[in-house]
Amino acid sequence: MKSLIYSSHASEDTDLNVLVDILTIAKKKNEKHGITGMLIFDGKIFLHYIEGEPQKVDQLYHNIQHDSRHHSLKILGTRLHEYRLFKDWSMGYMNNSSQILKTYEKITGRMEPDINALDYRQAQLLISNLSKIV
Ligand SMILES: Cc1cc2nc3c(=O)[nH]c(=O)nc-3n(C[C@H](O)[C@H](O)[C@H](O)COP(=O)(O)O)c2cc1C
Repeated sequence: MKSLIYSSHASEDTDLNVLVDILTIAKKKNEKHGITGMLIFDGKIFLHYIEGEPQKVDQLYHNIQHDSRHHSLKILGTRLHEYRLFKDWSMGYMNNSSQILKTYEKITGRMEPDINALDYRQAQLLISNLSKIV
């Protein structure tokens, strides 16, 4: 099992309707390909944890990379695991900005959020903490 975490910036015209589209398609496709994970969105920045068979994760990231609904993607890290972290979530989603900020501060000790500066371990901790309060 491989996990990959990336961050990206939403495109200017990525609104609620666009998000619903992304989540609906992603849920269906992820179920089909055995991908699980969690997407965090603070209104501007995405932070996405995906896990599954290595080849499926690489293929999905390749698709996501070419999606015009976001830009400036940065891989924060990848890992190989024996077990899934989000086995029950084909596409978890969380967009509570104040909770994101609060949890970010707790994990990094920093007040100015800079998602791109997180390392893999911090990003994984942030996402798994947030998944518990969805
Ligand atoms: C932030 C973001 C996250 C996405 N996450 C997923 C995902 O987890 N699974 C997925 O299948 N598509 C996801 N997509 C959509 C893909 O980029 C792509 O549009 C979708 O897989 C359909 O691809 P297809 O038209 O080649 O079938 C995401 C897009 C964005 C912008």
